[in-house]
Formats: sequence, structure tokens, C-alpha cells
Amino acid sequence: MAEKEMSREDALSRLDHKHACHILLYADSKAKLFGKIPIKHIVLMQMRFDGLLGFPGGLVDPSVESLEAGLSRELQEELGAAVPVTSDDYVYSHLSSSPPRLVLHFYSKKLKEAELLELERAAVATAVDHGFEVLGLTRVPLYTLRNGGGLPWFLSHSFISNSRAQLLDELRRLDLVSPQNLEKAVKKADELRH
Ligand code: GTP
Ligand code: MN
Ligand code: MN
Ligand code: MN
Ligand code: MN
Ligand code: MN
Repeated sequence: MAEKEMSREDALSRLDHKHACHILLYADSKAKLFGKIPIKHIVLMQMRFDGLLGFPGGLVDPSVESLEAGLSRELQEELGAAVPVTSDDYVYSHLSSSPPRLVLHFYSKKLKEAELLELERAAVATAVDHGFEVLGLTRVPLYTLRNGGGLPWFLSHSFISNSRAQLLDELRRLDLVSPQNLEKAVKKADELRH
């Protein structure tokens, strides 16, 4: 599924298309798995109602709200807390191949670890979509264990639309995983999927 990248201007001129905004929220962390493996960063995704992994966010109507206001509204519904999103957090837009006539806008935003932990609590405690559209928030394991556990197994799951590519692009762009480790993890994931 090759989604075509498009400029924000071109994307917003598609008045006859639907628009959706999703976001990668992350924080730095000094926490260690098993007391020894640094997790380095907390990156949030979610298990959707359809059993696919994806990012928090959703459909936005640019004729009645800005992309960022619409995304903030979706985050309130899906995470149960206000996350102010601005155009500074915008990454890129793609034309969806399936379903057609949908434009996908992507954002990422760095939070403080304490803010992110508070979001994780709110997602269960107050999000109206919890248990319905959203089955649960999940962190993305960024490390690779000797047996392929961690990022490779995570990447071998099924993802909605181009969210897997959005994840990989952002991990690379923000340097949350080194290029060598990311390349190895993707290769291992492809083996696991076959
Ligand atoms: P409703 O409130 O039920 O309308 O859902 P929503 O507004 O939260 O919409 P959703 O998050 O499902 O996103 C709308 C469409 O965008 C989906 O049908 C998918 O095609 C696509 N989509 C969903 N999540 C992602 C994601 O993380 N990345 C990308 N690229 N596309 C996504
Ligand atoms: Mn245990
Ligand atoms: Mn939603
Ligand atoms: Mn959604
Ligand atoms: Mn919605
Ligand atoms: Mn909804």
C-alpha cells in the first residue's frame, strides 16, 4: 500500500476529500526494563476497535475546525485529556489509497515523561472512547532483545493504513532508534511476518 505524500497546501485544497489527523506522542525516559535495558523513550500507539495498531487521532472536518483543533478534540475523546497541538507539531500529509478520497495528516509531539504517564492514566480513567473505539494505549518497545523480542515483534503486527510507515519515519527522523538498529529491526520483522 503506497500512500502518496502531498504538501499541506495541496492536502487542504482537497475540499471533496475526508481528512484525518493522527499523532505520535513521546517522551524521554531513564526507566529500565528488568532493571537493566534502557527503554530510552516512551512512544504511544493504540490498539484500535478493529484489532489493528494505529495512532491516536481521527477524522477532522477542515470546513468547521482547523486540523490542529480537530486533532485536539480527537485526543480528548480517545485519551481523556487535553493535549494542545499546534502547526509546529505537523510532520506531513498523504493521500490514502484505501479507503480513497481520504487525506492523512500526521503530527508528532514531545512531552515530559510525567505528562505522558498522566496521559496513560487518563486514557483508562476518563477517555470516553476507552473500551470502544480504543481498546487500549500501548507503548512501542524500541529495543531489540537477542531473540528478536521488542521492536521486531512489535513491527510484525498488523497496522491501520500507513501508520507503520509513519512510525518508522518518525523513529528515524527523531532519532529515537539508531538507523542501524531500525534497519535490523525491520529486516527481522519482515522475516517474522513470512
Ligand atoms: P470515529 O470517531 O469512529 O469516526 O473514528 P475516528 O474519527 O477516530 O477515525 P480514525 O482514527 O479511525 O481515522 C479515520 C481513518 O484514518 C481510518 O478509517 C483509517 O483509514 C485512517 N487511520 C486511522 N488511524 C490511522 C493512523 O494511525 N495512521 C494513518 N495513516 N491512518 C490512520
Ligand atoms: Mn514480570
Ligand atoms: Mn476518534
Ligand atoms: Mn481514531
Ligand atoms: Mn471521530
Ligand atoms: Mn468517535
